[in-house]
This record gives sequence, structure tokens and C-alpha cells, in this order.
Amino acid sequence: MGAQIVIRKTRINDLDGIVALENRSFKFDLFTRRQYHYLIAKANATAFVLLVGNTIAGSAIILWRKGSTKAHLYTIAVDPKFQGRGLGRKLLERCLKEARSQGCDRFSLEVRADNKPAIALYEKSGYEIVGRSVKYYEDGCDALQMQKQL
Ligand SMILES: CC(C)(COP(=O)(O)OP(=O)(O)OC[C@H]1O[C@@H](n2cnc3c(N)ncnc32)[C@H](O)[C@@H]1OP(=O)(O)O)[C@@H](O)C(=O)NCCC(=O)NCCS
Repeated sequence: MGAQIVIRKTRINDLDGIVALENRSFKFDLFTRRQYHYLIAKANATAFVLLVGNTIAGSAIILWRKGSTKAHLYTIAVDPKFQGRGLGRKLLERCLKEARSQGCDRFSLEVRADNKPAIALYEKSGYEIVGRSVKYYEDGCDALQMQKQL
């Protein structure tokens, strides 16, 4: 790859890049620009981008709940052009580190039951399936709830 890989907190002026990444990475249940703006600027959340050189190649958002020691991975995506090179794992590890440093002891997420790459990534990172919501998504796909002890 050659170019430098950096993970840093997301800034408002990353929005264009993140929305473009979202559109390339997801087929279903996409977040809008407005939702991203809220998540970055107002929500009780921490957002990271992964840069390859100057290009936004990945994005992840952790949601925090007041009074809870459970962090929640709200979204994670790597641009299809950059997938399969270990960047998703790097981004997830950064999120896990952040959750530990905030005093969390569990990290939860939801994933489409048909999203094999994501489920494989999470299982390799020590996540376990702890529940299933039938027909959770717009198109009728089930959601798996996964969780990892930190
Ligand atoms: C899920 C996603 C973030 C993985 O990112 P990535 O950079 O391609 O993943 P990595 O290269 O870091 O792979 C890490 C592990 O994930 C698994 N994995 C990644 N892509 C995979 C694929 N196509 N098939 C099977 N397993 C895969 C493997 O276990 C891999 O470990 P290995 O290389 O040691 O075998 C990426 O596929 C993506 O952005 N998908 C679209 C958005 C999405 O679905 N996000 C998750 C929403 S819950």
C-alpha cells in the first residue's frame, strides 16, 4: 500500500468523505449526512476515521450510554477499495482500546445475519453472538447481537 495509515477522531469537515464512504460501503440502512452530522457533533459518541494517506478509507462510531459500562459499536466501514487488508481490524481495535480507556467492560454491536465478512471480523476479535432479532432490518433480514468482554 505504501501510504501512511492514521486513525484519528472524526472532524466535521470529514463529513463529505464519510458520506461518500458510507454510500460505497453499505447497500442497506445507510446513515444520512444529517445523521452523521448529529453523531459527530452532538451525540454521546466517539467517531474515528482511518486515513490512508489523505484518503478516508474507514470510519467507525462508538455510542456511550450514561451510567453504563457497556460501549456500543454503532457503525464500522472500510471503503471497498481498501477492504481485505486488515484495516477493519485496525479500526475495530482502536474502538476497543477507546472503550477500555473509558472504563467500559463490555462492547456490543448489531450486525445483519447475512453479513459474513463483518461477522468473521467480529468473531476473530473475540465477539460472541448473544441474541438474534428476527426481521430487524428494512428488507426483512435478521440482526445478530454480538458482545465482547473487554
Ligand atoms: C466488515 C468490514 C469493515 C471489514 O473490513 P476489512 O478491512 O475488509 O477487514 P480486514 O481486512 O481487517 O479483515 C479482518 C478479518 O475480517 C474477516 N473478513 C474480512 N473480509 C472478509 C470476507 N470478505 N469474507 C470473510 N471474512 C472476511 C476475516 O476474518 C479477516 O481476518 P483474516 O484476514 O485474518 O482472515 C468491511 O467488509 C466493510 O466495510 N463492509 C461493509 C460495511 C459493513 O458491513 N460494516 C459492518 C456493519 S455491522
